[in-house]
Amino acid sequence: MRIGILTSGGDAPGLNAVIRGAVLKGTRVHGHEFVGFIGGYKGLCDSEAIPLARNEVKGIGNTGGTILGTSRTNPFEHGGAPRVREVLDEHRLDSLIAIGGEGSLAAAKELSDLGLPVVGVPKTVDNDLNGTDYTFGFDTAVGIATEAMDRLRTTGDSHSRCMVAEVMGRHVGWIALHSGMAAGAHAILIPERRTSMDELLHWVRSAHDRGRAPLVVVAEGFALDTMDDAHSERGLDAFGRPRLGGIGEKLAPLIEEATGIETRATTLGHIQRGGTPSAFDRVLATRFGMNVIDLVNAGKWGHMVALRGTEIQTVAFSAALGTLKTVPPERYEAAAMLFG
Ligand code: F6P
Repeated sequence: MRIGILTSGGDAPGLNAVIRGAVLKGTRVHGHEFVGFIGGYKGLCDSEAIPLARNEVKGIGNTGGTILGTSRTNPFEHGGAPRVREVLDEHRLDSLIAIGGEGSLAAAKELSDLGLPVVGVPKTVDNDLNGTDYTFGFDTAVGIATEAMDRLRTTGDSHSRCMVAEVMGRHVGWIALHSGMAAGAHAILIPERRTSMDELLHWVRSAHDRGRAPLVVVAEGFALDTMDDAHSERGLDAFGRPRLGGIGEKLAPLIEEATGIETRATTLGHIQRGGTPSAFDRVLATRFGMNVIDLVNAGKWGHMVALRGTEIQTVAFSAALGTLKTVPPERYEAAAMLFG
């Protein structure tokens, strides 16, 4: 078989481990041949491909980013299914493995609904994909954010300041919840739980009154109960989703003004997605890459690999996409017992 691979959407630590796992198993066990499309769906629609032999994937399992490059390109704005069919034929490909998050896999679903031989590997630091317990990249992002918060706490302590740390996550609060809990945050603000300024100030004051430098962790998709939507000032991405970010900088002066506590905001941003993947993410990504070959061999188009408990399973795109995996209220309330 000849198989195409692409990485699409925001990068996540572990993408290269997926590519390596798929190519190694595919070539060694089944004698498949691989090509990689450069820059996600853009490279697919432009027919920009490189051969992916065993040699090309050596030593990449522990590296960040993606050797194929990525982009937020919607294939339906670049010729759609007819163009993709043409490119697959041109490269004599029997199937396409799309490694991506919610937007990219929705495009993969649409292509497979239109009869193309597409399978998926779920990826995102946000961990917001239904159908899989974890996506690779999340564990690394949480580790990076936690380490950054540990550092914010020591400088906050030195100056008796309130420190606001904004993390990624788009419309879910998984990175905020996990990194905030790990760092012992005094308040964690997530999109799933509207919070009032009064409640936030109560947590900040109570930590400060006990002599602590309050650490507030806020997910980029969080909105105060007085706001209509999450803070967004950079328009929409190629999949029509608002680009988020900046809520930490909005909250910091409000906290300072109301409490008199000097307050600083730090937006962790893309640092959370850069660098080497954690051991957990390397293993998960490698297992995803190896297991997606079984989907290709079985012709299970329109399906993706997923982690359920400790097992890698197969899930239909239709079951995994459409609704986000949000933080359940009970998970948030359990964490909130320690706020303040
Ligand atoms: O989906 C992953 C993610 O990192 C989100 O957490 C964030 O909102 C978005 O991508 C940032 O996108 P970009 O890299 O295009 O700025």
